[in-house]
Amino acid sequence: MKQQLEQLRAAALRAIEQAGAMEELENVRVKFMGKKGELTAVLKQMGKLSPEERPVMGQLANEARAAMEQAIENARARLTAAALEAKLEAETLDVTVPGRAVKLGHKHPMYLALDEIKDIFVGMGFTVLDGPEIELAELNFDRLNAGEGHPSRDWSDTFYFKEDSSVMLRSQTSPMQVRAMDTMPLPIRMIAPGRVYRKDEVDATHSPMFHQVEGMVIDKNVTMADLKGTLNAVVEQLYGAGTKTRFRPHHFPFTEPSCELDVQCHKCGGKGCPTCKGEGWIELLGAGMIHPRVLEMAGIDPEEWSGWAFGFGLERTAMRQFKIADLRLIFENDVRFLEQF
Ligand code: PHE
Repeated sequence: MKQQLEQLRAAALRAIEQAGAMEELENVRVKFMGKKGELTAVLKQMGKLSPEERPVMGQLANEARAAMEQAIENARARLTAAALEAKLEAETLDVTVPGRAVKLGHKHPMYLALDEIKDIFVGMGFTVLDGPEIELAELNFDRLNAGEGHPSRDWSDTFYFKEDSSVMLRSQTSPMQVRAMDTMPLPIRMIAPGRVYRKDEVDATHSPMFHQVEGMVIDKNVTMADLKGTLNAVVEQLYGAGTKTRFRPHHFPFTEPSCELDVQCHKCGGKGCPTCKGEGWIELLGAGMIHPRVLEMAGIDPEEWSGWAFGFGLERTAMRQFKIADLRLIFENDVRFLEQF
C-alpha cells in the first residue's frame, strides 16, 4: 500500500505539472482527489490495515494529499499568470506604429470658381437661383423668342425626351430668366448656375454636359450702361483692377442689342500669346438687353421695365483660372488631378 501511495503521489504530481489549462487541472484534481478519485480509493482500504500500520499509512496519505493540494495551488497560480500574459500579448497596442491619415476631401475646382463668382454677385445684391435640368422647350426656346424653325432647336443639337420636342435637357441656363420673371416680384437681380446639355462630341474644349451661369437684372430705367458697368466691375474683381474689356456686337434671339464680352488676355496684356491663341483677347460671355418680346411674353410691360442678361460657361472660367488645358480633366474625377487644387 505504501508503494501504491507513492506511485499515486508521483503520478498525480506529474499530471498536475503537465496540466496546460485550468480545465485540465480540475480534471486531474477530480481524478485523484475527488470523491471517486484514486487517492480516496486507497484511503478506503485503510480499514484493512493492522493497527500498527494504520498511523504510518495515515501519515503517508496525508502527506501525499498535502503535496497534491500544494501542487494544484501552484499550478493554479502558474496557469492564471500564463492566461493573463497571453491576454496581454493578444491585446498589445503598438503606440509607435504610425497612424493612418484621414483623407479629407475638398471642393472641385469648378465649384471653387463658382464660389468666387457667387460671392461677387451676392455682394452686389443678386439672388442665387436653382432650376430644373429637364426643361420645357417652351421655356428653353419659345419664351426666349426662339420660335419654331430656329436652328438651335434642331434634333442634332438638343437632347429631347419626346417625339414632339416638347421636353428636353436644357441647352442653356437662359430658361431661368423666364422662370424668374414668372415667379419673382420685380425688380429682379439673380444669377442661376447649373448644368446644360448639347449634342457635342467630347474633346479638349467640348462636352455634351457642361455648366453655365445665367444672370439677369430687371428694373426701371436699366440700360446698356448698367450692363457694361456691372460686368466691368465683375471682371475687375475676377481678374484684377484695371483689366480691360471689349464688348462686341453679337446675336441672341432673346436679347436686343446683343453682345459678347471679351477680356484682355491676362497673360500677354493684349499682345497675343498661346493663352489667347494670338488674339490678345479672351471671350468671356454672351449678354444683351432683354428683348421687349421676352418681357411681354412674361407679362412685363417693356415700356415700364427693362433689363439685361448674360450667360457664360463655367468650365471655361475654371480652366482659365486654374490653367487647366483639357476640359475632360474636369469631369474625369482623377484624384491625382483633383488633389492639386
Ligand atoms: N444662353 C446664351 C448661350 O448659351 C448666353 C446668353 C445668356 C446670352 C444671356 C445673352 C444673355 O450662348
